[in-house]
Order: sequence, then C-alpha cells, then structure tokens
Amino acid sequence: MEQTRQHTVEDREFWENLYQTKRTAWDLGQVAPPLKTLMNSPYAMPKGRMAVLGCGNGHECLFFAERGFEVTGVDFAPSAIRSTMDKLSKSGLLGKSAYLLERDFFKMHDYDGYYDYVLEHCSFCAIDPSLRRTYAWTVRDLLKPQGKFISLWWLIPDKQGGPPFAAHKTDLFDLFGEFFNIEIAYEPKDSVKDRKGHEFITVMSRK
Ligand SMILES: C[S@@+](CC[C@H](N)C(=O)[O-])C[C@H]1O[C@@H](n2cnc3c(N)ncnc32)[C@H](O)[C@@H]1O
Repeated sequence: MEQTRQHTVEDREFWENLYQTKRTAWDLGQVAPPLKTLMNSPYAMPKGRMAVLGCGNGHECLFFAERGFEVTGVDFAPSAIRSTMDKLSKSGLLGKSAYLLERDFFKMHDYDGYYDYVLEHCSFCAIDPSLRRTYAWTVRDLLKPQGKFISLWWLIPDKQGGPPFAAHKTDLFDLFGEFFNIEIAYEPKDSVKDRKGHEFITVMSRK
C-alpha cells in the first residue's frame, strides 16, 4: 500500500496549511518597527534591487517598494504570494518596482549575483536547522559582490523542535561570518512587546 509522507517544514504544503488554517502567529500585521527605524536612520541603505526571502504576507515587501527599492518577494506558499500580491497591487507597485516569485528560495540559482540586498525577517528561524549553512550560501550567491544582507533576526531560546527553531546570536556570527563582513550589529529598542530582547539587527556585506 502506498504510504503518504507527513509534510515537514521543508515542504510548501506545511506552510500553505498554516496560512489556510490561519496559524500565522509570526505575522506582525505591519512592517517590523526596527526595520522602519533603521531605514529612517543615518544608516539607511540607498535604493537598490532587493530579494525578500520567505516574504509571508508582504509587509516588508511593501515597505521597501514604497521607499523606491526594486523588490522581489519570494515564498513557496501560494497563500503568502496571493496576500503579498494584493498589497502590492493595491499600492500600484506590482510589476513596476515590486515583483513576486512563488518558489523555493533554496532553488534560485538563476538569480545568482542579481541583488544589491537580501532581506531576512523570520525566515532563518523557520527553516530546518540542518539547512542553515545552505541558507547562508544561498544569500551569499544571490548577492552581487559587496551586496548587503539586511537582517532582523528573531532570536529563539533553546527549545525542542520548531518552527520557530532555536536561534542564537552566536549561530549568526558563526554561520555568516565566513562569507560576510559584519558592518552593523545591535539589539533594537523598539521591538514589538512579545519580541522585546529577542531581536537583533545586522547589516553584512558579501566578502
Ligand atoms: C515564519 S514565516 C515569516 C514570513 C515573513 N517573513 C514575516 O516575517 O512575516 C516564514 C515564511 O517563509 C516561507 N518559506 C519557508 N521555507 C521556504 C523556502 N524554502 N522557500 C520559500 N519560502 C519559504 C514560508 O512559506 C513562510 O511564508
């Protein structure tokens, strides 16, 4: 008899099911305040071409597209793409400066070296920890030389299983330090209530 495999966090069906059953507790319903603050600070990055990996409901896509970035939201869950598409379409930016790719961000080699920026928000802690090194390679490969990896990390204390999976500051420095120079690193002061003390901002440039 044919056995049906249980979907895991590596499968788009797993995530699509969370969207369809409205179990999206990670979704802040707005762009994360620390990213807003960063982009209103003297450290704000100039406009450029940005990939948002695991874009979810697209709050960050809309935010950066409205600031003149050419943004591509990438997600393999159809519901996430649909919801981001609605937002971008209402803003009039879809197809002008904002684009969407419904695909696995680990399989984007046709875009290697294409982006000035890659944005990370709640994707690193969402993938299986065994794929973290591949994630670091993926980000490096998508970026142009000296391209920047802008990250708002959600740090998760030790726990069994996930998502979100346990994620520590040391993991970030260990994994990404090999391929990136860390230019900015700080704990934001304006995290939403539930994430206070559990977020960390870094901006790294590809070596
Ligand atoms: C925890 S959610 C975060 C969404 C969004 N970044 C946010 O902060 O609201 C993780 C997202 O990554 C997507 N995702 C996970 N693994 C992926 C992969 N390999 N390729 C594309 N999308 C992926 C999921 O579908 C989900 O939308």
